[in-house]
Amino acid sequence: MQGLAGHVFRAVYLRCFGGVDRCYCPFVRLRGSSLHARDERELAAGARMGELFTAQIIAASPAQATTLCALLVERGHHRVNLNLGCPYPMETRRRRGAGLLPFPGEVERVLEALCGFEPALRISVKTRLGLERSSELAALVPVFNRFPLDAVIVHPRTATQMYTGAPDWELFGEQAQRLEPPVVANGDILTAEEAQRLLAAYPWVTGLMIGRGLLRDPFLPAAIKGSAPPPSRQQALLLFHETLLEAYQQAGMSGGHILDRMRPLWGYLAYSFPEPERVAKRFRKVRRMDRYQLLVESLLRASQQ
Ligand SMILES: Cc1cc2nc3c(=O)[nH]c(=O)nc-3n(C[C@H](O)[C@H](O)[C@H](O)COP(=O)(O)O)c2cc1C
Repeated sequence: MQGLAGHVFRAVYLRCFGGVDRCYCPFVRLRGSSLHARDERELAAGARMGELFTAQIIAASPAQATTLCALLVERGHHRVNLNLGCPYPMETRRRRGAGLLPFPGEVERVLEALCGFEPALRISVKTRLGLERSSELAALVPVFNRFPLDAVIVHPRTATQMYTGAPDWELFGEQAQRLEPPVVANGDILTAEEAQRLLAAYPWVTGLMIGRGLLRDPFLPAAIKGSAPPPSRQQALLLFHETLLEAYQQAGMSGGHILDRMRPLWGYLAYSFPEPERVAKRFRKVRRMDRYQLLVESLLRASQQ
């Protein structure tokens, strides 16, 4: 998740919490024929993680997909995920992300290009139900079935919905069941109970992808796998927070830059506390690192008592 769960966050998260089997970087894209420096840093950190890591790309054409895959192989990557879900007009109007969904022929050509890199790269896809119409997935299922995909991750919303409204699990049940590659379910999984309900309702689902739910409750992946919660959640959160702050400092980020990262994160972490709206609002307003530290201490240490 761009700006929230970059490589520094992911490394610290994995050190502090369990339960995650795979990490995906925010999508990387071409700038001319090379990569943005930030994307290079993400990929270098990902390559160090080895098998756990999947690089995600966004591409509008077989040529872009080929160039990106060649760059990944050169950098020692083994997995690539094609983003067919990004809903932002800046991407979709260039026929990237969910902008490709109304064009199954184009999706097929891009997947042919990706699969040309098998077996050096294992290929997976992240998709929504459609760009504007949720019926679009029906035409994409036979396309996905033509390729030896490692996984199809389905976020059952249209791009027009962005992140609002309810995921359409009924349509997910109808369409994703027709997929031959392993299916991963994604969208609004916020509790272990919700995860178990999904797995029971759709027993052919082989995995869950969790974004915002993990940021709201970093203990969620481990809880889904049946791990007991730590003796003190607040203590574990405090340690995670301190480690993350230190890691951002070690990465050379300024106080202001770190606050720009932490403020949006607290929009999610706030849900680990009573009155999350109030907590998030207090963090939204903070502009100085010393005030920020005081706020964190008062919140985390107070809730330990
Ligand atoms: C700020 C933000 C950034 C995101 N960036 C990406 C991305 O780069 N690639 C991707 O596949 N999905 C991205 N997503 C979508 C999530 O992966 C996920 O599909 C969506 O949030 C629904 O799942 P969730 O309810 O578990 O968060 C992003 C979502 C948010 C809110």
